[in-house]
Formats: sequence, structure tokens, C-alpha cells
Amino acid sequence: MVIATTIEEVRAQVRAWKQERLTVGLVPTMGYLHEGHASLVDKAVSMCDRVVASDFVNPTQFGPNEDLEAYPRDFDRDCALLEEHGCAMVFHPEVSEMYAEDAATYVEILSDMPKQLCGKTRPIHFRGVCTVVSKLFNIVTPDKAFFGQKDAQQLAIIRRMVRDMSYGIEIVGCPIVREEDGLAKSSRNTYLSPEERQAALILSKSIFLGQKMVEEGETDANKIVAAMTANIQTEPLARIDYVSAVDGVTMMPVDQIQGTVLVAMAVYIGKTRLIDNFIVEKGA
Ligand code: PAJ
Repeated sequence: MVIATTIEEVRAQVRAWKQERLTVGLVPTMGYLHEGHASLVDKAVSMCDRVVASDFVNPTQFGPNEDLEAYPRDFDRDCALLEEHGCAMVFHPEVSEMYAEDAATYVEILSDMPKQLCGKTRPIHFRGVCTVVSKLFNIVTPDKAFFGQKDAQQLAIIRRMVRDMSYGIEIVGCPIVREEDGLAKSSRNTYLSPEERQAALILSKSIFLGQKMVEEGETDANKIVAAMTANIQTEPLARIDYVSAVDGVTMMPVDQIQGTVLVAMAVYIGKTRLIDNFIVEKGA
């Protein structure tokens, strides 16, 4: 596996692959990789000749009081996992390689979409995500790029950005990978104390509760959200940021389970903010 730290190295390698008519897949990550990230690499390997993963804790998507400094990092372990899963190149730049000191150009969706859900408490987050993903698209020029359903709003926003900016890159969404007990895998799970790790199960439990209600025929989105909210409130260590049912494409709130609906939540367990969600596809 090639380890690239500069944009020029990435461009040269991708150019060589393209001369051989090989297709290129991109898996953007912030590192501290787990089986969720590995599932994206596996999917990319199955659909592309060469897979590039980026491993970069992107400062522009963190708010002033968020966990940029504390965000966990272990590049050697990441490389071992990526190599094992058939990744051909990892791009691991310094912040200075990605952002000139006076960088002032951003990619931002100016609709209400990034203001919903996580955007309510993280106002600059999706601008930072769109900017860095846009830069990675320009650097790697992949045929396909792979994103997890775990970050459902991010996935929807990337799809919109690709459409609006005519990127011509196929965006492939991949299902949420969970721990055996249900907790969605996340680099941030490492922040949890043993007691909090147990308490964090309330997220997936309420996701499964919501899914069960839908399966049993409930179509009132507010009832589902209310039941999930009440369920989370039984856990003393949990503090709800939001539980919402929204349109799966626009991210705007819905009252009925109809068409593609995303039921998503962000919940603090102690100081750690965790997210989880499920998607419902229901014909009219
Ligand atoms: P990061 O949180 O490292 O996640 C990288 C990718 O892995 C995202 O597409 C995310 O949805 C996916 N992922 C994380 N946990 C997952 C799980 N349990 N199951 C399936 N997929 C999972 O998301 C980011 O980084 C950044 O915002 C990034 C897109 C790299 C831009 O900086």
C-alpha cells in the first residue's frame, strides 16, 4: 500500500492508474479506523480496481468547542487495517498540505438542509465537510466515493453537493456497522467510560424500538419520535440533542412515514455526543 502525504504524490499515482484504464474508488475518513470504515473499503474494493482512503482529521468541520484536539489518532493501526482490506493507497496529509494559511474558499449548501439535525448545534460542520470532501474529490478524481449511512445527513449533503457541482462521481452509501450489542461503531466510542459504554446502548435500543413500531404499521412519525424519546429518557446518563423524523433526501421534518424517511438522533452520553439512525422506505 502506498502511503502518500502530499497532494502531488496522490495525483501522480492516480494518473498512472488511469493510464492503465483502472477505476478508482475513494473512502474519505478521519482515521482511528474500525469495522465501519473497513466495510466501506470492502465495498470500494468490490466495485473499483484501486481504492484510495484518506486519513485526515479535518479541522474546518470542528466547531470552536468541539473535540478537534482530543480526536483519537493511530495512523499505524489504520495503515494495517487498510492494507489488510485491500486499500491501494492512503492519503495522510498534514493540515498545512490541505489548507494554505490564508485559505478562504468554502463549499457550502445554502439551503435549509445543512441547518437541520446535526446542523442545529454544529452550524459550520457541514461547510467544513463539503469543503474537505470537495478538495479530496479534486485531488483523487475518483470514479466512485463511499460514505456510511451512519452519518446519514452527511451522506445526503454529499449527494446534493455532487449533483449541484456536477462532480460526475458516483456516491455509494453503505449500511451502519454495529457492535454485537447494537451500538453503532464510531471512533468516538473510545471516549466512553465502561459505565457510559453500557448507557450508550440506549441509542440503538431506541432505534430498534422505532424500527419495530414501523414494522408493526405505525405511520405517525411524531408517535415514533415520542416513543423513542421517552425510551432514551429512561437512561440517566443520556441527554438528548435531537430525535427527528425527516425526509430522506431534503432532511426537512415530516409527520408521516411515507416515501423515504430518515429517523435520526444525536444523544450525549456524559460529554460524548453519539449519533444513530434508521431509514424507512415506504411506498405511497
Ligand atoms: P469518519 O467519521 O472517520 O467516517 C468516515 C466514513 O465512515 C463516513 O462515511 C462514515 O459514515 C463511515 N462510518 C463511520 N462509522 C460507521 C459505521 N459504524 N458503519 C458504517 N459506516 C461508518 O465522516 C467523516 O469521517 C468525515 O466527516 C469525512 C467524510 C471523512 C470528512 O472529513
